[in-house]
Order: sequence, then structure tokens, then C-alpha cells
Amino acid sequence: MPDGGIVLTRMRWWHVPPVLALEQELFAEEPWSAAAFWNELAETDSRHYVVALDGEDVLGYAGLAVFGDEAHVLTIGVTGSAQGRGIGADLLRDLLAAAGPRRVLLDVRVDNAVAQRLYGRHGFVPVGRRRGYYQPSGTDALVMAREPQAW
Ligand SMILES: CC(C)(COP(=O)(O)OP(=O)(O)OC[C@H]1O[C@@H](n2cnc3c(N)ncnc32)[C@H](O)[C@@H]1OP(=O)(O)O)[C@@H](O)C(=O)NCCC(=O)NCCS
Repeated sequence: MPDGGIVLTRMRWWHVPPVLALEQELFAEEPWSAAAFWNELAETDSRHYVVALDGEDVLGYAGLAVFGDEAHVLTIGVTGSAQGRGIGADLLRDLLAAAGPRRVLLDVRVDNAVAQRLYGRHGFVPVGRRRGYYQPSGTDALVMAREPQAW
């Protein structure tokens, strides 16, 4: 469970500016644009985006896409000052609940040990690698999958 006072709620258009600020903080090399978030939020049938709020402050956010029998974790982030309190785990569990009985896939930088541990604790295992996936850094992506029948 997240800290007392932290609420998870569906991401709405008015959350986009603070989420973009978190993008700059957390993914400075490869941040998503405002247009990317607008496009994602417009895909209401296939996307599930959630924010973690402390009052009106957005501390974290996460997004999932569903394609048939599979779901993809598209993004997840928690502001540095609020990391290590279980908010990331809570966001991930919210996405997994939305995914239901589907195989869930995600890409994570090979050098992101914190995120890989979080995914590992929730049943994800490495299934592949995409060379030079993250640009402009050229960092490889580790592909991780969580099989529904195993959980
Ligand atoms: C990855 C990320 C989302 C995790 O968010 P988080 O809120 O820090 O995640 P959690 O708090 O649930 O777990 C992180 C660590 O804190 C620990 N933790 C969780 N709750 C805790 C608590 N109440 N007290 C102390 N530690 C706690 C967890 O055990 C975990 O430690 P470990 O990885 O050494 O085992 C966050 O680090 C982040 O935004 N990173 C930058 C962006 C990023 O890399 N996103 C993923 C892209 S694929």
C-alpha cells in the first residue's frame, strides 16, 4: 500500500503539465512530449493511465496499453523525493489489475536495476533484449514478461 494520504486516480488532461515535469526529472534523455500524452489519453479504449496524488501534487504516474491478449507497461515513474515508499509498486499493481488475465510485457533499460527489481518482485522475467533501443543514448532495452498463469 502507498503511504497514508496518497491516492491513485485515473490520469486526466489537467495532470499532463505536472506529469511532463516528472518526465523531465526522470527521463531527461528521452522524455515523452505533451503531444505523446495527449495522444495516449485520447486512446481511451486501449490505454490505462494512472497518477499517484498527494493532495493536488502528482508524485508518480504509470500507463498500460492493452492489445488483445497482451498488455504493455508503457511508462512508470515516481518523483525522486517520493521513491522507496512503495508508490511505484502500487502503480504497477494498479496496471496489473487493469491488465487482468493477460500476458504483460515491458521494456526497461538494461542499466535500470531498481526498476528491474520492482518488476521481478511482481512476476516479470527477462525474455529478450533490444539492442540500442533507447535513443539518443543507444542503451539496450531488456524485455520482461509476466505470464498470467504463473500468478
Ligand atoms: C522505478 C520506480 C518507478 C520505482 O518507484 P518507487 O516508488 O521508488 O518504487 P518502490 O518504492 O515501490 O520500490 C523501490 C524500492 O523501495 C523499497 N521500498 C518500497 N517501499 C518501501 C518503504 N515503505 N520503505 C523503505 N523502502 C521501501 C522497495 O523495496 C524497493 O527497493 P529495492 O528495489 O532495493 O528492492 C522509480 O525508481 C522511478 O521513477 N525511477 C525513474 C524512472 C524509471 O526508471 N522508470 C522505469 C522505467 S522502465
